[in-house]
Amino acid sequence: MRIDIITVLPEMLEPFTNQSILGRAQSKGLAEIHVHNLRDYTKDKHRRVDDYPFGGFAGMVMQCQPIDDCIAALKAERDYDEVIYTSPDGEQFTQAVANELSLKENIIILCGHYKGIDHRIREHLITREISIGDYVLTGGELAAAVMADAVVRVIPGVIGDEQSALSDCFQDNMLSAPVYTRPADYKGWRVPDILLSGHEANIKEWELNQMLERTKKLRPDLLNNEQD
Ligand code: ADE
Repeated sequence: MRIDIITVLPEMLEPFTNQSILGRAQSKGLAEIHVHNLRDYTKDKHRRVDDYPFGGFAGMVMQCQPIDDCIAALKAERDYDEVIYTSPDGEQFTQAVANELSLKENIIILCGHYKGIDHRIREHLITREISIGDYVLTGGELAAAVMADAVVRVIPGVIGDEQSALSDCFQDNMLSAPVYTRPADYKGWRVPDILLSGHEANIKEWELNQMLERTKKLRPDLLNNEQD
């Protein structure tokens, strides 16, 4: 899959996109992340991409022209399944949304800034608005990085152990079971005996029980709130 991220702060995204899971996915040829500097598309001689809002409100608003031209340039090259705008008033980003987006061929993520973007862009070009949580970030770059990471890591083959993305927290609307590694006894803190028993069926049953118990205790809302 290909993700095109449009931003006024490309230097903020480059460390995320070239390293860790995103870097690995790209070197394996399973994903491509391209970061575009919105200022490269402005017709303003001072490279400005924002202006004062009509109505005398406070703050600055990202203008239509650079965003429209940048999206048009990308769309001239290929078809896009979604043009996403990162915004605190968008739909909540969840594992289900990450899974769904990972099946797309090409997506654009437009990072918001200042007071937001001219609403006409939202009406005419944006297909989906996504928030990563009920708090306000300075810009959409961190939200875009979070989304790209969560989406790319569930593409089959990106994570070495195929199973591990599937057994992540939230994949079945449940939290993960606790995990342990050697030594089995550290300062008298013992790993549960069942995990050392070698009995696969019992271990699986223990894991499911742990998932259910931890979810009931820590995130009961997940059990009442089945997502697809
Ligand atoms: N931009 C600012 N705050 C945001 C949030 N919570 N999610 C997505 N984009 C944002």
